[in-house]
Amino acid sequence: MISFPRTALADELARALQGKASFSDAHNGMFLAAPRRTGKTTFLRGDLLPALERAGVVPVYVDLWADVARDPGVLIAEAIGRALQPHLGRVAKLAKGAGLEKLSLAGWLQVDTSKIGKLDGLTLVDALRALHETAEKPVALVIDEAQHALTSEAGENAMTALKSARDQLNRPGEVNLMLVMSGSDRDKLLRLVNSSGAPFYGSQIQRMPLLDQAFIDFIGELVEKQRPDLAPVDRDCLHKAFEGFGSRPQFFMEALGQVLSPLASISGRFELAMLEAALQRQRDDEAQMESDYLGLKPLEQAVLWRMLELGPRFRPYDAEALKFYQFQTGKAASAAKVQNALESLRQRMPALVWKSARGEYAVEDAAMHRWFEARKTANNWPPRSLQSDLAFGGDAAGSD
Ligand SMILES: Nc1ncnc2c1ncn2[C@@H]1O[C@H](COP(=O)(O)OP(=O)(O)O)[C@@H](O)[C@H]1O
Ligand SMILES: [Mg+2]
Repeated sequence: MISFPRTALADELARALQGKASFSDAHNGMFLAAPRRTGKTTFLRGDLLPALERAGVVPVYVDLWADVARDPGVLIAEAIGRALQPHLGRVAKLAKGAGLEKLSLAGWLQVDTSKIGKLDGLTLVDALRALHETAEKPVALVIDEAQHALTSEAGENAMTALKSARDQLNRPGEVNLMLVMSGSDRDKLLRLVNSSGAPFYGSQIQRMPLLDQAFIDFIGELVEKQRPDLAPVDRDCLHKAFEGFGSRPQFFMEALGQVLSPLASISGRFELAMLEAALQRQRDDEAQMESDYLGLKPLEQAVLWRMLELGPRFRPYDAEALKFYQFQTGKAASAAKVQNALESLRQRMPALVWKSARGEYAVEDAAMHRWFEARKTANNWPPRSLQSDLAFGGDAAGSD
């Protein structure tokens, strides 16, 4: 597995998080969005966590998608608990040595030595404080796919607790708790920061930089080293191909492996074959979304269409929406039926629709918005099945 290190970017973000960069608000929380599979998790784990450690910070990483069935608050608490473990051992020893059942650490936390290492009874705020004080270092909590916290009340509460921990632990000029939240969808992440009731109201969402020319140069050098016959590699062309793959390194690397394989039957330059492979990938992605869409019942299609059309302004049951569904399906849609349609869009594997604990809906994969917009621009919306083209005057989209 080839991994391109992004050390400079990681060090820069680590500095900003510590409040060491001017004109940055990162010490109040850093919110990073970039599409799926563009390398967020790889960067956070492989580059940012080590950079934080180098800077003398204790990093705690948790991925809220690792187990979507579990309470995000518990997942976060467990991650903090794991980071706390090595430090608590030392505290426990001290406490036992002193013959105390309970030891008051710096006067804030009653550590029950019989329960040491467990987070029972500790709030997230306590746990973070415990970690900070026992490690005697600032703590950075990195939450991957943080938007998932918004899908349950427990998750929302966890976010509110984190904000409160940040406010309690940090002082002007002294950052003891850094928060990094990443997500695949800017619109969903926005719900953490953009309404006055949102836990991190006022913070900005930043775009997590995509892998860029530096990554392509790195790959170009590797190719030239392994296949001197292919030098010089056309890096511009390779970069265009990478963008064609939606800047998703995995698909790009797979295609590269294929075109460079001794078994590949390409005649011209491999860079051109990469451009072709990128186009093919786009066609495949679009075909997948089209077949997902066409496989839906008429009301589900209409609901998804409305959601794609309105984005954050989507309201599933308002009069306008109901009129729209009726117009598209030719049948009156009751709120109950719409709710069923939304539920089935949410329960599909993979899910097409996302729902927050407050009853807000959004498409699960933001790539669908780009697909929708492109088709609209090309006057090619909605997708129509081949079958409906052949049916004469029948119920084109099938029945529900
Ligand atoms: N810096 C990198 N160098 C090489 N390949 C990478 C890099 N970052 C990501 N990848 C590849 O892309 C895949 C998806 O990356 P991931 O970090 O899981 O994306 P995300 O979290 O944005 O969905 C990884 O499994 C890996 O194969
Ligand atoms: Mg990820």
